[in-house]
Amino acid sequence: MAFLDLLAKLPKSRRNITARATAKTPELVARSMQFGFDYFDGSRDHGYGGYRYDGRWVPVAADIVAHYGLKPGQRVLDVGCAKGFLVKDLMGACPGLEVVGLDISHYALTQAEAEARGRLVRGSCDALPFADASFDLVIGLDVIHNLDRAGVIRSLKEFDRVSRGPSFIRVDSYHSEEERAVFVDWVLTARFHDYPAGWEAVFAEAGFRGDWTWTIIAA
Ligand SMILES: C[S@@+](CC[C@H](N)C(=O)[O-])C[C@H]1O[C@@H](n2cnc3c(N)ncnc32)[C@H](O)[C@@H]1O
Repeated sequence: MAFLDLLAKLPKSRRNITARATAKTPELVARSMQFGFDYFDGSRDHGYGGYRYDGRWVPVAADIVAHYGLKPGQRVLDVGCAKGFLVKDLMGACPGLEVVGLDISHYALTQAEAEARGRLVRGSCDALPFADASFDLVIGLDVIHNLDRAGVIRSLKEFDRVSRGPSFIRVDSYHSEEERAVFVDWVLTARFHDYPAGWEAVFAEAGFRGDWTWTIIAA
């Protein structure tokens, strides 16, 4: 397991931290945490402000395929797949790769990319409805932090259980009190976040065998 900067080719998100912090109320957060229309396609205050396919995952999918040496016939699971953008682009990067997505959001799954439909299942990252060792790679980007610390540990164990190879996750972190303050202003749904050392303690406690990278919110 290692820190891995595999998502470097994703474009930087535009964020108005002050506007988000000003708009945030407990009611708005509760609505976002339903992971429905508001979170994906409602106003930016509630989440993405429009979660649409724009091809940004294409180079990332190619990097994932190259790094893990994925081959046609192998099986990959994308946990927290949302509308299946990465599922679609992994299949494009490696024709013949068997890619499956899982997400808790009924809304996102019903809005999925045509190429991903039939490959997506509804469920939670801490109780994956798959057999032991049934995937060659399990990916989970910005998903497990939506659970509390105990749920994060359950999820990491689930990733290791269903993967017969590596896993790769991205989770929320920060390197300074200033970065933490920006994160706290921005965050809507993440229930567990920590400094890298805190995450590494969680990884050790879960016995996590996978790789990881951080989401760091810049001011
Ligand atoms: C920040 S989005 C990330 C989506 C995608 N992985 C990406 O990077 O663009 C978080 C996703 O996790 C899903 N999610 C939230 N809680 C979940 C859970 N307990 N199990 C599975 N998916 C969950 C949400 O519906 C949403 O699609």
